Amino acid sequence: MKRLLIALFAVLSSSVVAQNVITPPTTEEGFKVIELSKMDLSKTTCGWSTPKANKSIEGHPITIAGKTYASGVGTHATGRINVKLNGSAMRFKAQLGIDDEVVPNKGNVKYTIKGIGENGLSSVLAEGTIVSGGLTQNIDVDVNGYKYLIIDLDENGENSYDHVDVANAYFTWDDDEGAASPPYIVSNDEIGVALACATAVFSQPGVRFMHKIRASQPNALISVSNLPKGLKWNAERCLVDGSIKKEGVYTYYAIVENDGEVQKMPITLTVSKDLQQPVPFMGWLSWNVWEEAIDEKIMLETANAAKRYGLDKLGYQYLCLDDWWHCCKERPADGFPDWDHAKFPNGMRYLTDTLHALGFKAGIYSDAAAHTCAGAFASYGYEKVDAKAYADWGFDLLKYDYCGAPPAAEEAQRRYTAMGNALKESGRNILFYMCEWGPREPWKWGAETGATCWRCTYDSRDYWDWGSKANGGHIGVIQGVDVMKHLWAYSGVNRFNDADMMMVGLHGTGRSSSYDAANYPTGRAGMTQEEYQSQFSLWAMYASPLTLSFDIRNISDDDLRIISNKEMIAINQDRMGQAAELVSDTLVSGQQVEVYVKDLENGDMAVAVFNRGAEPIHYTFFPEQAYLKGNKPYRFHDVWGVSPDKMAGPEGYDMQVLPHQTRVFRVSRK
Ligand code: GLA
Repeated sequence: MKRLLIALFAVLSSSVVAQNVITPPTTEEGFKVIELSKMDLSKTTCGWSTPKANKSIEGHPITIAGKTYASGVGTHATGRINVKLNGSAMRFKAQLGIDDEVVPNKGNVKYTIKGIGENGLSSVLAEGTIVSGGLTQNIDVDVNGYKYLIIDLDENGENSYDHVDVANAYFTWDDDEGAASPPYIVSNDEIGVALACATAVFSQPGVRFMHKIRASQPNALISVSNLPKGLKWNAERCLVDGSIKKEGVYTYYAIVENDGEVQKMPITLTVSKDLQQPVPFMGWLSWNVWEEAIDEKIMLETANAAKRYGLDKLGYQYLCLDDWWHCCKERPADGFPDWDHAKFPNGMRYLTDTLHALGFKAGIYSDAAAHTCAGAFASYGYEKVDAKAYADWGFDLLKYDYCGAPPAAEEAQRRYTAMGNALKESGRNILFYMCEWGPREPWKWGAETGATCWRCTYDSRDYWDWGSKANGGHIGVIQGVDVMKHLWAYSGVNRFNDADMMMVGLHGTGRSSSYDAANYPTGRAGMTQEEYQSQFSLWAMYASPLTLSFDIRNISDDDLRIISNKEMIAINQDRMGQAAELVSDTLVSGQQVEVYVKDLENGDMAVAVFNRGAEPIHYTFFPEQAYLKGNKPYRFHDVWGVSPDKMAGPEGYDMQVLPHQTRVFRVSRK
């Protein structure tokens, strides 16, 4: 009897029919079985409704050609599922078809299953067409060694009735191969195979929107399809432009053709009037100048001074506690976070209430590991408790650091998502500011964690150029520029690349920003006023959040002039949220010169010419470099007032640019 039961159990647990329902095995050929339907389907793209685990897209049991499947994903073309394999998956198996819930011959989908290697090159592993009422396609492909698997489902002309089932779908996985995790679904943004730009974009209803589409292969041809009403494709500049009145989530496609291979990449556009960060946030962070000495008294004096200098009216809204507001190195025994009661004698609620009453917003800091960078207790494993506490305490922003956390990008995504979700559930609108410093390319996946901006650089020091001595602890303005200048296509409304706190005003007085100054290449921290102004200009052009980090209780006239340049701030805060595009990076009279253009909502262009060299240069800027055509002259308005306004046509605008100077112009037809 016992033997019979074992035999019966073996039959039931293998990939066979139990009461005519097909179920996947639990192991196969000695490998673990990882079912596709158990992965996070929210990161898949789906042409209609939302994908379902173990159900058809309409919620019925998955049934193709009369056979019912217990496991699988019900989705819809045009759609895409990207799975990160980490090289240790062995095979992918599935039964592919159109669900019997659709009348025969109506649904028609072309599928392509591709493997992407570590080198980024793709191979087609299986392809074909499925039709409703037609045969089920048996997929059984060798995926060993690939980094990603892509299941691409094209509508094949028309997307009605395309109810695709990826039935009985699973990977066999060798958990002995030392991969960081079993296969899991990743977004298009992360996989970024064909595109080198944002694929999850945002806009506000009725506000002009722009999305510059860039391919990872420089010679690829780009076009778009399915643009919602209100948006137009500018083929010459490869950008989507226009505005959408109605809130909602829209999907359009970027079609990338390269070397005969065509990829159709879905883009999601969320139009909402409640975006958390429609324009880059502006404010002040306590770290550089105060470190662990920050307390209630300094915070309130800072707020009062910010008000006195009119910084609130200029947009510097967020006053943020950085590291070491905490009571202790280890989390209190009751599991709840607590502040340092000596430094914050009236408590956090009093602090935020006072900041709010003065017209500011309040920021707080934590880290995605057990301890913060400075060694206080942090939030890993306590995301919900902490997010709820920050909400109850009245905070409006969380800077979330990554010291002490594992290096793998997927783990970073999990940890940031855990906090992103906790903040969403916290009952308060708390802006989520990621700070993993760039090594895991957060510009590709940060938006999915719930963050609306992410640090792209290591910690900036109050210094111009560290050259080859730069490292994680020491980078200067130039090292920040070298990262930021390549990332513009990943920035946009509600998804900003952050270049770290600005150094203006510090003059070598900071703590961490000038630590170890004797070891700085010139033996001291601090920069010239021209250099501080250049950093401010470039950060504004990059659409980086603008954060001050010096002791603003006393601001010199010279520093105030820089941080209160309303025109420069308006360029940063432009509602189209574009980061400046690097249009030229060449030697001019032996000096390295970078030229940037930033599209503005009213059709003006902001132009920045940055001389990195040690000698002054003459430079002629041609309106054409900012995509401004025709013979009629344009008005060049000098944002820093170096030269009077001037008209210039195709013959160009001549300027002098001093060493380390950034000349900025607003160029318009008016
Ligand atoms: C990291 C961050 C800094 C600052 C410190 C605080 O280094 O990158 O911006 O928050 O931690 O310890």
